Amino acid sequence: MSKLADIGVIGLGVMGAALARNFHSRGLVVATWNRETDMAEAFTAKYGDDRFVSSPSLAQFVQSLETPRRIIVMVTAGRPVDLVLEALAPHLGNEDIVVDGGNTFFRDTVRRDQWCRARGFRFVGMGVSGGEEGALKGPAMMPGGDVEAWQRLRPVLELACARSEHGPCVDHCGAGGAGHYVKMVHNGIEYADMQIISEIWTLLAGGLGRSGKAAADAFARWNDTELRSYLVEVTALVLSVQDPQTGGPLVDQILDAAGQKGTGRWTVEQGLELGIPLPTLAAAVDARGISSNLTARRHGSATFGDRGHAAIHGLEVDDLRRAFYAARIASYSQGFQLLQAASVAHGFGANLAAVSRIWTAGCILRAALLDRLYAALVRNPALELLHHDPDLAQTLAEALPALRKTVVKATEAGYAIPCLSSALGWLDGMATARGSAALIQAQRDCFGAHTYKRVDAPDIAVHSLWAELPKLAG
Ligand code: 6PG
Repeated sequence: MSKLADIGVIGLGVMGAALARNFHSRGLVVATWNRETDMAEAFTAKYGDDRFVSSPSLAQFVQSLETPRRIIVMVTAGRPVDLVLEALAPHLGNEDIVVDGGNTFFRDTVRRDQWCRARGFRFVGMGVSGGEEGALKGPAMMPGGDVEAWQRLRPVLELACARSEHGPCVDHCGAGGAGHYVKMVHNGIEYADMQIISEIWTLLAGGLGRSGKAAADAFARWNDTELRSYLVEVTALVLSVQDPQTGGPLVDQILDAAGQKGTGRWTVEQGLELGIPLPTLAAAVDARGISSNLTARRHGSATFGDRGHAAIHGLEVDDLRRAFYAARIASYSQGFQLLQAASVAHGFGANLAAVSRIWTAGCILRAALLDRLYAALVRNPALELLHHDPDLAQTLAEALPALRKTVVKATEAGYAIPCLSSALGWLDGMATARGSAALIQAQRDCFGAHTYKRVDAPDIAVHSLWAELPKLAG
């Protein structure tokens, strides 16, 4: 074949193979490379035609690309990315661009950007969301870093990405490691949304007696409401599946110990680092941790009485729908507050309206709510808390009583609902003009002379000798 390839894909695992096929389906000539030759051969045997260029060596793979080269690396995050960059470096020239499309920690992206610059080629860290189907049909893509590199990548990425009514679901997310940071926060919110859904399902099935098909039907119905989203759609699907062995729901036969690869935990760690509370996202990560403590949980249920099955009286299915929506708004609001803070702290200069637009289609988070978040951020790009947008605030005020009722009733009945209850606690805390921290400050000053500030002189640090001051009478 004489024509040089428009784009190269390194790593032909599930996501890489799907992305390569996606580019190919848009009429691009795609060069592919995989270090393990059996995977490369399997890919060529399955999909090979004249718009896929396979090469016997990495050097020839690079030579098969039109310059300046655009190479997307889809290998497991971590050391494999460094190995690919080290192998590529001797073959690349000044304007060539290498994109890491994995779930990479943003600080590794910053380090690799400098490493690649020092070796004379460009590097872009890009989050890719949507799973295998998304990668194949149109994922949401979150590139960051080198702006010139983005401009050169833009035409091919806009061809391959998802599209919503708001435009292509790809945009430059900001400087440095912003692309991977945005994807990390996407996953932190993903953890929260999945846990909220799981808690609502437990209440529906255990508390309100809507198990099996009735639960699947409830989620399917909700997918036609303001809750419409990919994760609700997937939930309705998986809850409807029958186990061929027992005839009951397949989900009931799955061991309830959730796995995780770390992106949710990174998000929470970033919140701690920047002092941004993310209680609902943290509760979701912790809930996965609690779920994995199978032996301890069994011991606990034998010791204290098993939880999570009691009937809940006075709670309606519709209360759960509204509670779900309120908790979902709270978790997005937490995630975007982290993005706002990170954009300043790390100098991303992120355009958060663009981020919310990228998430309107293609990614795991795609949801009707994203249209409203996008509208809110277009109205006010500096909005610190999304639920303070007047439109969202009104919706939240309407849904909040249902969240409160759900948390009260479910907690009374002994259900563990860490995401729903932390969402309520956060919303209440963030709407409390004077809270309880005055006492924390007094304690700190009393035992450690840490000082405090008076409400009537908030700029002056004061220390009191608490034991020696006059005491209240009566
Ligand atoms: C996506 C997903 C994906 C993520 C999986 C699994 O946007 O396509 O976020 O990137 O890896 O959802 O994540 P956990 O194994 O940590 O649940």
